[in-house]
Amino acid sequence: MTTHTPSIADLDHTHLWHPFTAMKEWRQEAPLVIERGEKFFLFDADGNRFIDGVSSLWCNVHGHNVPEIDAAVIDQLGKIAHTTLLGLSSPPAIRLAAQLCGCAPKGLNKAFFSDSGATAVEVAFKMAAGFWFHSGRPEKNRFIGLAGAYHGDTAGAMSVGYSDLFHRPFKPMTFVVDWFPSPDALRPAEGRAGPRPHEAPRGMWPSEWEPLAQAAGDHSLCELRRMLEQDAGSVAAVCIEPAMQGAAGMVCQPKGFLKRVEQLCRAHDVLLIADEVATGFGRTGSLFACDGEGVQPDLLALAKGISGGYLPLAATLATDAVEQAFCSAGEERRTFFHGHTYTGNPLACAAGLASLALFQKPPAGSAFPDVLSHARASAQIIARELDALRGNPHVLDVRQRGLMVGIELGRRHADGSAAPFDFSKRTAHAICRQLRDEGVIVRPLGDVLVLMPAPAMPHDLVAELAGKMVKAVEGWRF
Ligand SMILES: Cc1ncc(COP(=O)(O)O)c(C=O)c1O
Repeated sequence: MTTHTPSIADLDHTHLWHPFTAMKEWRQEAPLVIERGEKFFLFDADGNRFIDGVSSLWCNVHGHNVPEIDAAVIDQLGKIAHTTLLGLSSPPAIRLAAQLCGCAPKGLNKAFFSDSGATAVEVAFKMAAGFWFHSGRPEKNRFIGLAGAYHGDTAGAMSVGYSDLFHRPFKPMTFVVDWFPSPDALRPAEGRAGPRPHEAPRGMWPSEWEPLAQAAGDHSLCELRRMLEQDAGSVAAVCIEPAMQGAAGMVCQPKGFLKRVEQLCRAHDVLLIADEVATGFGRTGSLFACDGEGVQPDLLALAKGISGGYLPLAATLATDAVEQAFCSAGEERRTFFHGHTYTGNPLACAAGLASLALFQKPPAGSAFPDVLSHARASAQIIARELDALRGNPHVLDVRQRGLMVGIELGRRHADGSAAPFDFSKRTAHAICRQLRDEGVIVRPLGDVLVLMPAPAMPHDLVAELAGKMVKAVEGWRF
């Protein structure tokens, strides 16, 4: 009697529940199973090669199988794979904490490790509420977020980054949050005066037109000021993804916006939480997006690129003032009672240290002296390639901050007005699916095509990636 050995695809369909995946549809075709990576490519079981066009979900920095990071992890593995930070410490965690505080915006002098972006922001919320509680202001326990935000899928992160599509069944688990309107030039917010997207001059993306961006930004900031004037006495913190909201569909903030958010927080005595889970580690042109505007948040959430995209690791950086609130008189009651088993895992921290060191070196084959200047040149290459989409009647906007790029699809009418596609048609998803057949892995956000190459990706590959995206859009039968 022969026994049937299930294939790896069968096993996937039978047992593996994938995140953010419509499982019924998933099981209708064979899964693409990635077996290995090399530099900026992924390889499936049949040896097919794909460009990693979204940095393995926005986290890969220097590529896959990077000799320096591999060696650091292997070296650490020879010592110990895991030991706890509860009551003990370890050299990789100590060194990474010190280095993160050394390169983060000024004033952030304490690092608290966890495992994912969601936990990094969850920790920030608890630190902010705890800070006010221990400072004798327990009534300051509410949060203000930016409309459209995404901060992850734990309860607090869902609350501040609530999305009806993602989180509706779990709404009863969330706490009440107020949001100030998004400075999204393409989608006029209620009550916003000023120019409308279709008035943008011909040949310009709405997000490039300064008056439009400023009108949207001013409206958003006015609302934030109004909310703070009314409620600052009960608000612990304002939380924001600086410079660009990723999962919202790559929504940019106008220049100076973040600085003004910081000023409003200072003026009204509320903390500023910067969620740089997506924007951190070189994605927007500087190491952190806050650096771009000289902003010093009270709390900074980091994850994704922190380990070079190698291992699950996150950190919440805090000012001394925030940490001090947890350790003055009555220490035992003020302790920050929060932690995770793998907090500060030594292998992940070793990868993080090796990744940070690589930022100072030229990427392989690059004429630039370090990763950030290489990445800034990559951003220009992408912008040049995507210029071909100007005037395309099915591209409503191209938004870019450094290596974070969103191409919003829809229909532009002859009078210049624009309308989104019927979402159920999943146009961007279909384009991404076709690109996969052409050897490119990208993943859309609704009808926004996303490009997010790794900061160290070679320039010829960056150009190939962007060029393939342009060709796919130009050739699509909408
Ligand atoms: C800005 C931001 N914050 C938090 C998260 C959640 O990160 P994680 O998926 O690691 O929990 C994400 C994920 O995309 C994100 O973009």
